[in-house]
Amino acid sequence: MQRIQSRAELAAALNAAPRPIGFVPTMGALHAGHAALIRAARAECATVIVSIYVNPKQFTAATDLAAYPRTLDADATLAEASGADLLFHPSDAEIYPPNEVVQTVDPGPLALRLEGAARPGHFAGVATVVSRLFDLVQPDRAYFGEKDAQQLRVVEWITARRTSAPPISIRRVPTVRDTDGLALSSRNARLSPAGRTAAAAIPRALKAAHDALAHGASTVAQIRAAALHLLSQHPELTLEYLDVADPLTLEALPDDATVNEALLTIAVVVDDVRLLDERLLGERSAS
Ligand code: PAF
Repeated sequence: MQRIQSRAELAAALNAAPRPIGFVPTMGALHAGHAALIRAARAECATVIVSIYVNPKQFTAATDLAAYPRTLDADATLAEASGADLLFHPSDAEIYPPNEVVQTVDPGPLALRLEGAARPGHFAGVATVVSRLFDLVQPDRAYFGEKDAQQLRVVEWITARRTSAPPISIRRVPTVRDTDGLALSSRNARLSPAGRTAAAAIPRALKAAHDALAHGASTVAQIRAAALHLLSQHPELTLEYLDVADPLTLEALPDDATVNEALLTIAVVVDDVRLLDERLLGERSAS
């Protein structure tokens, strides 16, 4: 696997790279969830490029940016073992050259609620860096985890609007979970043992909502109650939001609405670590 840092090296590598090119953008601290993205790219692309760039524009708290784990050598090992051909790990100046005006990319209407409301500016930062990375890497396919369902939808939205650039197919890769159901995230490493145990209640709360719907609950209020009941047994968890939304528009469903299909999203803070998980409920969801 080739490791490169500059735009110029990347451009030279792209000239020699067979297509299709599969691209996995990351912020590093790679884990089995990222490995699944890289393997998905490897399975269907002639060249697999992984980027590692901790994008300051998508952090709303400077402390969160500073605390973000940076583990480049371990990441390189995992990326190579998972099938990457090229690791692009640019500096800030390569992504946002000081002499260039950075046009913020509009993340669109899907970015307004949920994480967009909780972390104003976050999705504009994601949209801007993903667009820049797409311009630099020029992939045919790009791989994103379903774990961050809203990010995935925002990326699909901005990609569909890149009409003057060659088309990129956005590939969705299912969430990878630990044995206790906790969705893999680079943030999990910052949890204490007690926090880790409490965090495992999040996927159980998602399952409780799913089971409630399967066993006769029908309204948003009933589904919320099932998930909240489970979370309330863990006082270590501070609930930021528990949201039941239309899976296409991400608009909130009213409490008295009957659920046919909905995206349930839970954001909690535990040990000062913010964790997010979601599950599709209803018709198309897996049991
Ligand atoms: O999901 C992430 O790791 C980041 O939001 C991404 C897509 C790499 C953009 O910085």
